[in-house]
Amino acid sequence: KMKVAVLTSGGDSAGMNAVVRAVVKTAIIKGCETWIVREGYEGLVRGNSEGHRHTNSVAEKGHTSPRVKGTESQETEGFVHNLRFGDGELLKDGTGDHPGGRTLKGRYIVRVGWDDVRGWFSEGGTLIGTARSVAFRTREGRLTGAHNMIKEGIDALVVCGGDGSLTGADVFRAEWPGLVNELHNEGKITDEQATKHAHLKIVGLVGSIDNDMSMTDLTIGAPTALHRICESIDNINSTAYSHSRAFVLEVMGRHCGWLALMAAVSCGADFVFIPENPPDADKWADEMCTMIQSHRDIGKRKTIVIVAEGALDSKLQPIRAEQVKDILSERLGLDTRVTTLGHTQRGGRPCAFDRILPTLQGIEAVEALLDATPDTPSYMIGVRENKITRVPLMEAVKMTREVAQAISEKDFEKAMSLRDPEFRE
Ligand code: F6P
Repeated sequence: KMKVAVLTSGGDSAGMNAVVRAVVKTAIIKGCETWIVREGYEGLVRGNSEGHRHTNSVAEKGHTSPRVKGTESQETEGFVHNLRFGDGELLKDGTGDHPGGRTLKGRYIVRVGWDDVRGWFSEGGTLIGTARSVAFRTREGRLTGAHNMIKEGIDALVVCGGDGSLTGADVFRAEWPGLVNELHNEGKITDEQATKHAHLKIVGLVGSIDNDMSMTDLTIGAPTALHRICESIDNINSTAYSHSRAFVLEVMGRHCGWLALMAAVSCGADFVFIPENPPDADKWADEMCTMIQSHRDIGKRKTIVIVAEGALDSKLQPIRAEQVKDILSERLGLDTRVTTLGHTQRGGRPCAFDRILPTLQGIEAVEALLDATPDTPSYMIGVRENKITRVPLMEAVKMTREVAQAISEKDFEKAMSLRDPEFRE
């Protein structure tokens, strides 16, 4: 019986809970045992303190199968209540007690059942917590993580996160045999455990609002973040119109301009700056002013300029919202305000597509784990032309790094061709 654990890592994104739900439910249907790891890789490193292993979730009382009529009240006593009502202290450092008496103290790797993930479709963020773990970046941290997994008997891992988190997954799988050897040689695991855990099955799902991963068309959370941005721009539009003002909006996306570009298209922005298409450092201010003035000349009462947080000019100098504002005020005399949308873009309920995509990909992730052999590569589950795909995780991670490198070398054609292989063809 495969024991599958799922974790969310890096910046949260809408749809991560739907991933956990889909993985847990699919794995149960396929006859696996299901676990969650709290706080991303950090939870793997912290593990379960002695005395807190294999305790008190509904799953451990045997209710692991789909809900059967008549068992609801028993099942709703599930672990989910720990997560829901105990967030805050419980999820931050695992030291709090659940008001109802249950506790997650000292437990980061927790067995879960069908009802534990009920209703998780529509919840924003990630209920099992996430972190950008420093400890897991070290070999020592990964060694402890491997030990904690083996202690609980977990042999398959689903990681949902951005490119940093999936790089971690790739490194973990590559190092795994060495880690197991070391634990075995040090006498920390038995012969039987060393044999049983000789190979790690691992699969990645891309959860990130940035949509910056190569070899997939869309990342989980990006559509919701885009939707949030559109709603904000709609709000700003009405006040901008009233005062005939200009607004410069800074949006997230790290080194990727997808959110900014798609928001500009969705909202009819006057001008947009993205990292992938840096304007001429000596000309962009003039070009922007000419464009915006021409819009004003034909009667437009409001101006919207979108700046991706990673936007650069041709000399690779950052383009900042404040700088754009000063140009619009000084050269065009526009009453201009800056709005940095910040983390409102990342939070909140997932839109429909960020429920559908994680569900389809979560199912595929479990199937990929069940198909995995020591010789198959670890997969990243992607989506290409509306079809769910499996691509080698290592390749996708490598390509994403190469895109960042190409952008930093101003080789934008190469960057675009790596991000979108069809562009290359
Ligand atoms: O990668 C997701 C993201 O939201 C980026 O768009 C942004 O640059 C970054 O994370 C913000 O990180 P933090 O949550 O640490 O402020």
